[in-house]
Amino acid sequence: MTAPLPLVIGNWKMNMLTAQACEMARSLVDRLSTVDGIEVVIAPPFTSLHPVAQIIKNSRLSLAAQNFYFENNGAYTGEVSLEMLRDVGCDFALVGHSERRGSFGESDDAVNKKVRRAVQMGVTAVVCVGETLGQRKSGATSNIIETQLSKSLAGLSGEDISKLVIAYEPVWAVGTGVHATAAQVVDVHKLIRMILRERLSFPEKAAARILYGGSVGPENSKQLLREKQIDGVLVGAASLDFESFCAIINSALES
Ligand code: PGA
Repeated sequence: MTAPLPLVIGNWKMNMLTAQACEMARSLVDRLSTVDGIEVVIAPPFTSLHPVAQIIKNSRLSLAAQNFYFENNGAYTGEVSLEMLRDVGCDFALVGHSERRGSFGESDDAVNKKVRRAVQMGVTAVVCVGETLGQRKSGATSNIIETQLSKSLAGLSGEDISKLVIAYEPVWAVGTGVHATAAQVVDVHKLIRMILRERLSFPEKAAARILYGGSVGPENSKQLLREKQIDGVLVGAASLDFESFCAIINSALES
């Protein structure tokens, strides 16, 4: 089996108006036009998805939704379905980001419904898991990761799992400027692979790609991406700066 390409995802969160988003997308298309051997995904806010999709068409870039509702359509005022997002060009969707879990009460059960919908729609779900600082300090990291994974992935087959991306994003590292060390990330990635393989009884070949996210920047990306256990990175703040994001992409290419 050939190793998957390194995957770099830029999560723009609730940032950038349409003009800025389009300019960033154009610059990335241009910069990546001569690059090979990497997968780069950007997750603009909903309002910019359509224009950005036109710009990145036929480029090396793919589009991700930051969130969606698990029903396809109906009386759900204010919600956006994955069918709608796929219609505008999203091949990826973040699910269970810690900001959604923390600020919007997204439960493991809701995450599970979204992941199942993504699998059904052929959209790659990027399932985010991670412990808080208190949980890490009390030695509960393994239990938290195992619970989040088993609940979020309930009912999925090994084949379904193989199509997912798992992002280990310790809550204490997201948006804080404090990143996990490569050794800490490798430990949790090994744990995630072990949980997927043994405790959830998924066959070895059904290995999802596992990313790290949490204050990834040009200064730490090389060290993280050098590790074989780390298949890529999910980048927040540093993806808003063109040169910083490109530096991270370069680290992935060098890995
Ligand atoms: P950050 O965000 O890189 O700003 O810490 C990561 C994320 O939210 O995925």
